[in-house]
Amino acid sequence: MQKIIILDFGSQTTQLIGRRIRELDTFCEILPYNKFPQDDPDIIGVILSGSPYSVYDPEAFRVDLSQFRGRYPILGICYGAQYMSHTLGGRVEPAPSREYGRQNLTSIDLNNPLFQGFEMGSQVWMSHGDTITALPEGFKTIASTETVHYAAYQAEGEPLWGVQFHPEVFHSSQGSLLLKNFVVDICGSHQDWSAASFVETTVNELRQQLGNDRVILGLSGGVDSSVAAVLISRAIGDRLTCIFVDHGMLRKNEFTQVMEDYKVLGLNVLGIDASSKFFNDLAGVTEPEQKRKIIGRDFIEVFNAEAKKIFNSQSSNSKCRWLAQGTIYPDRIESLNITGKVIKSHHNVGGLPKEMNLQLCEPLKWLFKDEVRRVGRQLGMPEHLITRHPFPGPGLAVRILGDITPEKVHILQEADDIFIRGLREYKVKLSGDEARRVLAAGVPIQQANNSSTEEIEVSLYDQIWQAGVILLSAVRSVGVMGDERTYEHPVALRAVTSTDAMTADWAHLPYDFMARVSNDIINHVRGVNRVCYDISSKPPATIEWE
Ligand code: XMP
Repeated sequence: MQKIIILDFGSQTTQLIGRRIRELDTFCEILPYNKFPQDDPDIIGVILSGSPYSVYDPEAFRVDLSQFRGRYPILGICYGAQYMSHTLGGRVEPAPSREYGRQNLTSIDLNNPLFQGFEMGSQVWMSHGDTITALPEGFKTIASTETVHYAAYQAEGEPLWGVQFHPEVFHSSQGSLLLKNFVVDICGSHQDWSAASFVETTVNELRQQLGNDRVILGLSGGVDSSVAAVLISRAIGDRLTCIFVDHGMLRKNEFTQVMEDYKVLGLNVLGIDASSKFFNDLAGVTEPEQKRKIIGRDFIEVFNAEAKKIFNSQSSNSKCRWLAQGTIYPDRIESLNITGKVIKSHHNVGGLPKEMNLQLCEPLKWLFKDEVRRVGRQLGMPEHLITRHPFPGPGLAVRILGDITPEKVHILQEADDIFIRGLREYKVKLSGDEARRVLAAGVPIQQANNSSTEEIEVSLYDQIWQAGVILLSAVRSVGVMGDERTYEHPVALRAVTSTDAMTADWAHLPYDFMARVSNDIINHVRGVNRVCYDISSKPPATIEWE
């Protein structure tokens, strides 16, 4: 499979470069700047990302360009462009003022392969403190803005380009075209990385990898584990057994609905109602970390007990050797922190009994979230499963302050259901940059008037990262209903926009929508007499209240 290597110098937009390349139906790998893979016959081009550093910082990340220069086409973005220019004999200096935000390309070499199809005046997004003030010998300027003369360059007669702007961000209006020119026309991508080809190849590989073995998979109702399950079941059918544990703190009707969905998809699922165990063990516990520990421990106990049953029922010609997980690419990308140390995040179901000696099977490990969704659609999965917001493993337990009881969960489920249904039903029209941002984030446009970026219609639900209700069960306040005085709990609504949950902003929901939800909750949910909206961003707040 042809691939583009993206060397990561620590920019916040590196993953975005990866997603844009995948949107061009081309496979790519994001690697730390100092881990260029030698001897990989599938590489067709190299991209150097931006960086929080200046090329002059003593700690700046440096790479030996000779590892790939002359072997593959190279595109340096922002720091990547400055680094190549600086290293190869040009000059980079602090810009008189930070060059940040939208600019327009006032001069473009339209004959250059990187700028094929560009329009004069095309908008680009700059974000740098340094700027190139002289190019290395034999390099030529191929685009400028009013203030940035060397906005883009090429080494003459050599497939090496640099752009000081960020083609990967949606504010660069022809950024995707620039990346297409590089990846397809210059590097020669066959563009054969698609959801359909992924499904076909992966199902074949899984058949080979798994042979006649049995596989266990923990389902959460979320998109990643569900897509992984459907994919594996396409390969090995009933030899995949899925375990879906109901800890009693899922959303209203979620367990039954998701089980129905799984049945329709032909999955072999054991739905385990373990809610009484969880509620018993959580009784009277108020400390958030302790609640989490109990839920984590109980979950492993229940999951392992079921896994052991499957393990013990294996036959001699079909052994249970695998634990499958819906790990996706962003969970595994070795991300650089500011000190240059690699932080490797890897999530895993801890505590599986050693004696089962299971190997990990992670069929989605190369996919970004939007690709997982495309694969889900390719597999014919229902849209509501595919576009579901992330939901925390401990469920509504992290949205009830204080101790947890089935009654409190019930109140919260009712309020949450009204809020989430409302978000799904409320449609908004978007155009211009807002529409482009939503489209670029891979939001499914179910009700689009047309698929262009002119004007699109999306639900509030599809516009936001995550939403939920928090029950402030430790607080009571006075209200009045009819002629009666009430003394009940407030709930807080939380809706955030985010791309990765590391940072988040509160969603600016329309007032008429909030008014309607507030009315519905107070009129229909017994035990709640006040609705607040959480307007804290992360950091310093978090998404969940706990
Ligand atoms: P916070 O509250 O830290 O949450 O801003 C960040 C994201 O992680 C989700 N979350 C969890 N997901 N198991 C999960 O699978 C958990 O224990 C857990 N705790 C928080 C949270 O919903 C948000 O998307």
